[in-house]
Amino acid sequence: MTGMHIHPSILSADFARLAEEIARVDNSDAIHVDVMDNHFVPNLTMGVPVVKAIRAATEKPLDIHLMIEDADRWAPDYADLGAESVTFHVEASGAPIRLARELRARGSKAAMALKPATPIEPYMDMLTELDMVLLMTVEPGFGGQSFLDVVLPKIRRARQAIEDAGVPIALQVDGGVAPDTIERAAEAGANVFVAGSAVYSADDPAQAIDDLRALARD
Ligand code: DX5
Ligand code: ZN
Repeated sequence: MTGMHIHPSILSADFARLAEEIARVDNSDAIHVDVMDNHFVPNLTMGVPVVKAIRAATEKPLDIHLMIEDADRWAPDYADLGAESVTFHVEASGAPIRLARELRARGSKAAMALKPATPIEPYMDMLTELDMVLLMTVEPGFGGQSFLDVVLPKIRRARQAIEDAGVPIALQVDGGVAPDTIERAAEAGANVFVAGSAVYSADDPAQAIDDLRALARD
């Protein structure tokens, strides 16, 4: 994967008009869908039936971010419904290598997410099992929080490990990505940027995406 990719998070969209809200961000690279179970995080959003309806409502690739317990049990269902990528939290998986292989076998890209305080070092040797690593730049659960600069050194170390592995693994950041933070994340080595409130609180969400992409490329 080359270039800078912007994935708007529909967590900040109007859930009663999801198809229209997705159509407003047609210049995005993929749609980021936050699945929360009220156990892994203190918030509840949607599950397989709603994500299936979203899949049917757009041609856009779906980037599914699972903030759920027992990821080993549920993540494959999201690969089966046609997600471009399925991201599970390593803190919620008992067998992350097996799960990554299972997702790939079902035709999805495999991605692993780390909460801000979870170190990347224990997982350096399994990067080749993954298509993408997501480093959370807020505590997962809610949109509209502030970007955590303390994660920047981990982004740098992850980028270095990806370079060392010599495989084209995407490095995604999620949380507090906005015009005033995206350049720091890009400079540290991220190349896929999730943005919820920065996109959907803008008068023109498509313009907000173009602006973020331009800033990330600088
Ligand atoms: C938070 C979610 C994010 C959220 C980001 O747990 O994973 O995807 O939508 O929202 P902003 O961009 O507002 O921080
Ligand atoms: Zn997310």
